[in-house]
Amino acid sequence: MTANKKILVLPGDGIGPEVMREVRRIIEWMDRRRHVSFAMEEGQVGGAALEATGSPCPDETVERALGADAVLFGSVGGPRWDSLPFEKRPELGILRLRKELGLFANLRPALVMEPLVDASSLKPDVVRGLDLMIVRESTGGIYFGEPRGIETLPNGKRRGVDTEVYTEEEIARVARVAFDLAKKRSGRLTSVEKANVMQTGRLWRAVVSEIGKAEYPEVELSHMYADNCAMQLCARPKQFDVVLAGNLFGDLLSDLAAALTGSLGMLPSATLGAPDASGRRHALYEPIHGSAPDIAGKGIANPCAQMLSFAMLLRWSFGMEEDAAMIETAVEKVLAGGLRTADIMGPGTARVGTSVMGDAVLRELDKLAA
Ligand code: IPM
Ligand code: MG
Repeated sequence: MTANKKILVLPGDGIGPEVMREVRRIIEWMDRRRHVSFAMEEGQVGGAALEATGSPCPDETVERALGADAVLFGSVGGPRWDSLPFEKRPELGILRLRKELGLFANLRPALVMEPLVDASSLKPDVVRGLDLMIVRESTGGIYFGEPRGIETLPNGKRRGVDTEVYTEEEIARVARVAFDLAKKRSGRLTSVEKANVMQTGRLWRAVVSEIGKAEYPEVELSHMYADNCAMQLCARPKQFDVVLAGNLFGDLLSDLAAALTGSLGMLPSATLGAPDASGRRHALYEPIHGSAPDIAGKGIANPCAQMLSFAMLLRWSFGMEEDAAMIETAVEKVLAGGLRTADIMGPGTARVGTSVMGDAVLRELDKLAA
């Protein structure tokens, strides 16, 4: 790979900045030990951007994101901004970036690392070895559909409207991402909607079936209603490999799947746009955990999800599989060695803070690179 890989870092709010600090140390380590350097820039998003510029996602941030090869995102939001009007909410930071960069495919792995098998609230046997991937559509559906809003009716009562809408192209392009992934993994794909009650669900099921038949006959496709999928995820999660869903169902199911692993602080995600002719695509990488305002600034947050998001960035944006796997292995080794942040404590493990966890991952990286 050529140098000059341009990364825009957006630490955001809450624990974002402190977990991002540990990723920066990995990046410095890679510079020293692996001789790969990145052109890094830092920008503002969320509540932090709101305080500084009056907008949770300033135009400047969008422009810099459009110019970068990849965006590494921390998290946004916090109680300080909870009562703001809708258009000022920090969450709009991530929604606008998804939309403006065309990041329609949100990849959310739920993986149970062996050292953490007891962290799940489910029985170890139910989750041991769990490794599934939710592919969530992320620029359409009810999150963006029009009309939307709260209006006052002639009788003085208010009426709220959101619109679930999907075109066949929107369904098809995210379905292809899911089929491609299923092909690389176990060859199984579960597509989720509510075709029993929703028109978008009927179309979703039809389009996914057509693409499966015409383009991916080797992938074993099944369809499941979203409510049943929620139940099955709790009861028998290992039946799933790749799960494809629209924006809202994917939002719900990915939180549920994350909870199965018992360690929200461990899970990364990637959100990808369409590749252009040269194969370059916009992409944003972020941990699933959010800003965790209750523990922000205390130095106790788990930096692993942010580190693993960086590993996903290396893999998906720069094709650096070896380096990505090295970071993942280093994290797993630290956990196997018994160090834990507060969120993933277990019997017989030692509790450490954010930066000590970072130290430990760097030590494992040193060993792996030796
Ligand atoms: C997520 C979050 C976001 C979403 C919020 C912060 C807007 O819940 O990434 O899952 O609903 O998409
Ligand atoms: Mg969510």
